[in-house]
Amino acid sequence: MEIGKGRSGGRDGIRTHDPGVANAVLSQLSYSPTRAEGQLQYIMMAGQDLSGQLEKMQREWDERARENARFYVNTERQDWTDAEFFQSGERTVAEEILTDMINICQGKDPKRMTVLEIGCGAGRVTRALARVFGQVYGVDISGEMVSQARAALVGMPNVHILRNNGKDLDVLGNVRFDFVFSSIVFQHIPSREVIESYVRAARGRLRRGGRVTFPVPGGLALDNPPDDTWLGVTFSEQEARDMALRSGFEMRYSFGAGTQYFWLWFFKPKFLSEAWRRHREYRLRVAYRRWRGKLGRVVRGGERT
Ligand SMILES: C[S@@+](CC[C@H](N)C(=O)[O-])C[C@H]1O[C@@H](n2cnc3c(N)ncnc32)[C@H](O)[C@@H]1O
Repeated sequence: MEIGKGRSGGRDGIRTHDPGVANAVLSQLSYSPTRAEGQLQYIMMAGQDLSGQLEKMQREWDERARENARFYVNTERQDWTDAEFFQSGERTVAEEILTDMINICQGKDPKRMTVLEIGCGAGRVTRALARVFGQVYGVDISGEMVSQARAALVGMPNVHILRNNGKDLDVLGNVRFDFVFSSIVFQHIPSREVIESYVRAARGRLRRGGRVTFPVPGGLALDNPPDDTWLGVTFSEQEARDMALRSGFEMRYSFGAGTQYFWLWFFKPKFLSEAWRRHREYRLRVAYRRWRGKLGRVVRGGERT
């Protein structure tokens, strides 16, 4: 079944976040290190381990949250009122979720569903999710964001906000989900390893037939330092599809390939046989690419002699 109707609404959401990303891109470009400097910086950063990268993510998001959490969550405005900030979250849910409830709920009553938001920030979208679904969990790497979200949503007993380690969902114990959502979070994650770790963790916690929906940057790869916590790594359509297959998902729909907001819909197969078929398809594709690579090298080697 084709899913993801009402995508035009999503484009409005994309526009609202653009100025901040554009500013960040400009500030990246303005200091413009020479290519050699950039490469040296890259080599130095590549030696940095994942835990250092995660510490930096947490520190910098805590700083942003202390400075002006709501601005860094949605850069459309500097001076959000409570009402406007949470209305912007209602819009995200209306555009990205309410337009697609048949696929998300698959016959279930939303009030009996448990939903997870990865990177919940100051609770902008979490609050709107909690008005639609029975139980809503939010995780975020920033303790400052978590405090602000908890304070804002204190009167909602079906909301549970937790600080996590920035790469997986272990903090959630045994909770299982019917739907996992994330908006404008992987946009800021500079590591494929971290993004894929979240995707695998989401699969482990989703009930069969459940899905995860999130955007990744799909635009041109910029020469970012690999520990930049504002501009994330970019994905091509093929890379996104491979990540889905490696993680045991089916990528059934996508929107915005090649743009800053490349939305992905990954489904956890309902039946084991389907999961096996997808896995085998992935292994065959990898083997075929390796074989083509080897063949190319043999042919090129032959041409030289
Ligand atoms: C632009 S805000 C978006 C917040 C929320 N999703 C929304 O749309 O209102 C990005 C959020 O992602 C969180 N974040 C960044 N890197 C993260 C990571 N590795 N794991 C979990 N959260 C992360 C930040 O702390 C921040 O709250």
